[in-house]
Amino acid sequence: AEQQRVDALLRAMTLEEKIGQLIMPDAGGLTTGPGKPFDIRALVVAGRAGSLLNVTEFEDIREVQRLAVHGTRLGIPLLLGLDVLHGHRTIFPVPFAEAAAFDPDLWRRTARAAAEEATAEGINLTFAPMLDIARDPRWGRIAESPGEDPLVARRWAEAKVRGFQHRSLALPCALAATAKHFAGYGAVAAGREYAPVDLSERLVREVYLPPFEAAVQAGVAAVMTAFTDLAGVPMTANAAVLRDVLRGRWGFDGVVVSDYGAIAELIHHGVAEDLAGAAALALRAGVDIDMASDAYATGLPVALEHGTARMEDVDAAVRRVLSLKAALGLFKVAGAGDPRTPSRPHRVRLRRELAREAAQRSIVLLKNERAVLPLGSGVKRLALVGPLVDARADMLGPWSALGEPDRAVTYLEGLAEALPEVRISAVRGIGTQGGDGAGIREAVAAAAAADAVVLCLGEDRSMSGEAASRASLDLPGLQRDLAEAVLELGRPAIVVLTSGRPLAVEWLAERADAFLAAGFLGHEAGRAMADVLTGRSNPSGRLPVSWPRAVGQVPVPYSQRPGGRPFDPDNVFTSRYLDLSNEPLFRFGEGLSYTTFVLEEARADRSKLGSSDRLLVQVDVRNEGPRDGEETVFLFIHDPVASVSRPVLELKDFARIVLAAGGRGTVSFTLAGSDLSYLDAGLHPRLDAGLVEILVGTSADRKRLHRLQVEICAEIRSERDH
Ligand code: IFM
Repeated sequence: AEQQRVDALLRAMTLEEKIGQLIMPDAGGLTTGPGKPFDIRALVVAGRAGSLLNVTEFEDIREVQRLAVHGTRLGIPLLLGLDVLHGHRTIFPVPFAEAAAFDPDLWRRTARAAAEEATAEGINLTFAPMLDIARDPRWGRIAESPGEDPLVARRWAEAKVRGFQHRSLALPCALAATAKHFAGYGAVAAGREYAPVDLSERLVREVYLPPFEAAVQAGVAAVMTAFTDLAGVPMTANAAVLRDVLRGRWGFDGVVVSDYGAIAELIHHGVAEDLAGAAALALRAGVDIDMASDAYATGLPVALEHGTARMEDVDAAVRRVLSLKAALGLFKVAGAGDPRTPSRPHRVRLRRELAREAAQRSIVLLKNERAVLPLGSGVKRLALVGPLVDARADMLGPWSALGEPDRAVTYLEGLAEALPEVRISAVRGIGTQGGDGAGIREAVAAAAAADAVVLCLGEDRSMSGEAASRASLDLPGLQRDLAEAVLELGRPAIVVLTSGRPLAVEWLAERADAFLAAGFLGHEAGRAMADVLTGRSNPSGRLPVSWPRAVGQVPVPYSQRPGGRPFDPDNVFTSRYLDLSNEPLFRFGEGLSYTTFVLEEARADRSKLGSSDRLLVQVDVRNEGPRDGEETVFLFIHDPVASVSRPVLELKDFARIVLAAGGRGTVSFTLAGSDLSYLDAGLHPRLDAGLVEILVGTSADRKRLHRLQVEICAEIRSERDH
């Protein structure tokens, strides 16, 4: 019946009404581009907006839906899109932090909670999950990404799509998700925002596309094109990827939306002369909705008249937009929702508890010496120093939608609540990006009078997210001066690094007794951090990125190929720097606990594998320490001899295990023959007869992984494209 409704509407629509369905103006609530002030209501009534971006008030949403449904000729409801990324009203950790939990169920639950809040306010489309693989911390949007690894990003994609969209888009609490930014945006040259992207076809297929394919398989409703180009072809006009791969090979029949103003930006890219040319290119490539540019509104009619755009493409795009509206049940009820539902006290409490759990599990403890953590009873006076001690709004991080900064719990508040017996002195001393010697002296004085000091250092929220690239990965402002002066005192020193990216802080990690990477943890940041510092929660986060020592190492993903002259300390003519180790400061997967886990040798249920066999790999894990805890186990492979050189490690699976003190358990992984295949020189999937290594352990530290070999018996080659 819904399909018939869509057909009937398409037959009844004028060209203006059709084009209107392909336009998403910015209502201005949370603008990120050069948006013009529109009279949104007038646009809706004129049928010149099929969707709206950034309408943030429930009453406004209700009003514009009412106008669309009752005040227009065909009564077509609106898509209402907003960046509900890591929370809507309740803010969870940024993806770069939450990815560290390595728990798809947690990832799903936080998306579900955000969707419940957003849909209750009438939002029906979110521009998340962001699935850009990010290997360059200079790029500010690494904070919004689940990190460097395609398998992690695939799991993230599935979990987030399920969380936002729930069991069916037709449910009132389902929020249509958008996989973005398709594709390659994370590889902007030198980490500079909006810069060109040049990636090998291999990297595109092996690393950058798989998370999007996973989102499509999980039923994602929409895909957003990247602002950037891919080897000269802007993604917003990239028919080869949008039509052939996304729609053709993967069978995606949902909506493709441009990024903000990106269709008009085809002119700046130098592939279109004017808005008509830009509109023709984007439509031909398969972009259905023009977000916040004038290209479809003013350029598309001209392109149709000149014959550079085809009416059948307009119809196909309109059909997809209407089908999404139908799938969301908007033709039956639009503008429904009741913000009072998620505001009920017990619902609010549950979401805050979830925010605290997510934040606890996003914290990565990377160093803990002199048993400085958890804070013991010997600490009677604690100093909290540094610019992020009580930086409330910064706890939320970038893109925190409608999350109210006032509701965030600071580190100071969290610790004061957790340690009522301890005398806490808190001194910011300096700002994240500015300050002076007097402030530093004040912070040093506070630290000198304490039994232990927590240094709250890092970035403020404006330093991450869109348009927040940095050329340096140093601690900004005078923070190094402050930290060095405090460390000089020799007090037990714990560094809490809050940032949307890994920072080049080898000196700091070396000199501090304890070092925690916190990302931006959201509304419950302070309580979660206090939970971890006091031992109420045993840290379990693991790094979803390789953490560089210096900006000069970037990119330094764990999955590099060996090259013909891999590093050999005894041979100068091997791959290395004159002035720095090749190794990152912290490896992908690294993270400590207050207990000690021991992995025994990994075992497999067979030593030979045919193409249709499955391989069971198991490893026993013991908790030999004094506390209950949680460990994450990674399974990598390495194909030592293949027709093309393969990465030294490739992640194929990961699993968490929770063990009581003294407990023991088994982690199991099942691999299919196809999991071991790779793309050959022609980029066709292939599995060669011969040995493949399976490596199991707790981080991408090759030396510490348990290794076993499996013999592939059958050779599989596929001429079919991947
Ligand atoms: O969804 C975002 C995108 O990630 C960056 N540009 C603006 C869009 C809408 O706010």
